[in-house]
Amino acid sequence: MPNLHSALLILLLAAAACGGLSVLADDDNETFKEAPKFYNSPACPPIPPDDFCSNESINIAMTLDLHYLRGSMAAILSTLQHSSCPENIRFHFISSLPSLHNTILQSFPYLRCHLHIFAPSPVQGLISTSIRQALDSPLNYARNYLPTLLPTCLTKVLYLDSDVILVDDVADLAATPLLGKPLAAPEYCNANFTIYFTPSFWSNPSLSLTFAGRKACYFNTGVMVIDLVRWRVGGYTTRIVEWMELQKRMRIYELGSLPPFLLVFAGEIASVDHRWNQHGLGGDNYRGLCRDLHPGPVSLLHWSGKGKPWARIDSGRPCPLDALWAPYDLLVRENGGIES
Ligand SMILES: *[C@@H]1O[C@H](CO)[C@@H](O)[C@H](O)[C@H]1NC(C)=O
Ligand SMILES: *[C@@H]1O[C@H](CO)[C@@H](O)[C@H](O)[C@H]1NC(C)=O
Ligand SMILES: *[C@@H]1O[C@H](CO)[C@@H](O)[C@H](O)[C@H]1NC(C)=O
Repeated sequence: MPNLHSALLILLLAAAACGGLSVLADDDNETFKEAPKFYNSPACPPIPPDDFCSNESINIAMTLDLHYLRGSMAAILSTLQHSSCPENIRFHFISSLPSLHNTILQSFPYLRCHLHIFAPSPVQGLISTSIRQALDSPLNYARNYLPTLLPTCLTKVLYLDSDVILVDDVADLAATPLLGKPLAAPEYCNANFTIYFTPSFWSNPSLSLTFAGRKACYFNTGVMVIDLVRWRVGGYTTRIVEWMELQKRMRIYELGSLPPFLLVFAGEIASVDHRWNQHGLGGDNYRGLCRDLHPGPVSLLHWSGKGKPWARIDSGRPCPLDALWAPYDLLVRENGGIES
């Protein structure tokens, strides 16, 4: 079986990759410069570099994909730069392309990270097309499977999208109180919850009862603090997958990976402070118009929506707030010089 062979090969590569191996070339022709090394401040608890189970480290899960790699790089750099204990951060990259991990390691040779291979095939059959093609990528659904993808010794993980920049210490985000819930995410109770599901969902009496007795609010799944133990015990992955299976039989929502999360968790999560999700900077899902910051403090900028700062910068038509992303861009420009 050829599939078994490639699966084995991928597993071997995954095991070796965090040693700084760079035998695989990136398919892409983007070149990234090396980021500086960041050091712990004296007050940080000492954790051996190869300890990936310490409960004092901060574990961050991110997906790596070809089109968003430049965003991932900027997100990692901004996280390290504003952390008081950067050496205590453990990154867990989830990708179907091991070569991307090598690209990351070339820019961050000191990064403490593991690569977890995500096989897209099981989820592919569960994806129904949405309003924006980028939302249909199997990797968008990797967040459903974090508790099974990550080592069982981990009890908590932060999940971050690739289109974010942190400007404060990620430890503060990780310290979000979970209040006994399986996850915390930024909730927006003013958003009209009705629009996330189709009329056929709401008009079906047994389905619309899903939210009965719950104060269901929209929340963003791009910035989440997850209690992996509660998630595993609660069997939440199975519950999400069940909704995705129903969606294949009758269309109950239009967006990509978000609605099954809302179905399972809305009204039953802890809240991430909105400073950790200054969202919508990518504009709407259709045109990607420029947006302004929301009132209040800023610890994390999130270019959710269609427009991405790197694409707008390259096209020569950046939005004003894209200037806040640019300092973290590690891309080396071919026509001489690095944008700073
Ligand atoms: C790679 O280089 C080719 C030729 O210069 C260019 O057309 C293409 O857009 C580049 N790809 C990326 C992803 O930058
Ligand atoms: C880590 O685990 C140890 C031993 O189980 C416990 O004493 C300690 O309080 C934990 N620390 C944190 C930050 O949770
Ligand atoms: C929410 O959206 C639905 C469907 O578009 C609409 O019928 C309803 O009036 C809206 N509710 C509010 C409070 O705006």
